[in-house]
Amino acid sequence: MKRIATIAEMKAACRQGTRNGKTLGFVPTMGALHEGHLSLVRASKARCDVTAVSIFVNPLQFGPAEDLDKYPRTMERDTALLEQLGADLLFTPGVEEMYPPGAQTYVLVEGLSNKLDGASRPGHFRGVATVVAKLFEVVRPDFAFFGQKDAAQVAVLRKLVNDLDMDVEVVVCPIVREKDGLAMSSRNAYLTSEQRQQATVLYRSLLRVQAAVDHGERDSAKLIEIGKQVIANETGAKLDYFAIVDRDTLELVADVSCGALVAVAAYIGSTRLIDNILVTASSR
Ligand code: PAF
Repeated sequence: MKRIATIAEMKAACRQGTRNGKTLGFVPTMGALHEGHLSLVRASKARCDVTAVSIFVNPLQFGPAEDLDKYPRTMERDTALLEQLGADLLFTPGVEEMYPPGAQTYVLVEGLSNKLDGASRPGHFRGVATVVAKLFEVVRPDFAFFGQKDAAQVAVLRKLVNDLDMDVEVVVCPIVREKDGLAMSSRNAYLTSEQRQQATVLYRSLLRVQAAVDHGERDSAKLIEIGKQVIANETGAKLDYFAIVDRDTLELVADVSCGALVAVAAYIGSTRLIDNILVTASSR
């Protein structure tokens, strides 16, 4: 695996890698890699001739009171894991390489960027869309792999690619969970052992909603109440949002008969975690 820190070298390596019609898969990350990320790398390896990964903790997507400084940075371990998996290129630019002094251009997917996590984290999706647009321009991948855990991010990035006619296919891979159901996240590393137990409440709330749908409930307002109650019963958790929306537009849906994204965000201590499921309502 070749590790590259400059945009010029990464562009050259990617263009070189795709000579002779070879396909290029790309997995953008902020590092602190876990099985969720590794599943994306495996998916890229299975589908593409060449796999590039980026590790860049993007300051633009963190709010002033958020965890940019303490975000876990485990570059040596991450590099070893990517080597083992057989990634071909690893892009690890510094902040000044990505945002040189005087950079003034941002990418905003209007509307979608203010929904779900965008409502709780103003400016977050502008930061995500800007960095991903830049990374896509550097790498010019055929396929880019993202996790379903960040469902709102997926909706924003799909819209970005569509609206700007980018020649990249967004591939969304399933959420990878710990044995007890907790969705894998780099932020799980912040949890104490007690909080780690409490954190399972996010998935438990989603399972309770799925069970209610399986028993015939279709009304989103009632389903949201069921999910919120599960979170309220866990003393260590503070709800941020519990929403039932269309997976593409992130607009609220009143009824889940045609399927919907059920998404939750909650604080466990000071750690904000997210999770979601796609419910499909079989006809009864
Ligand atoms: O999902 C992430 O890790 C980040 O939001 C991404 C897509 C790498 C952009 O910084």
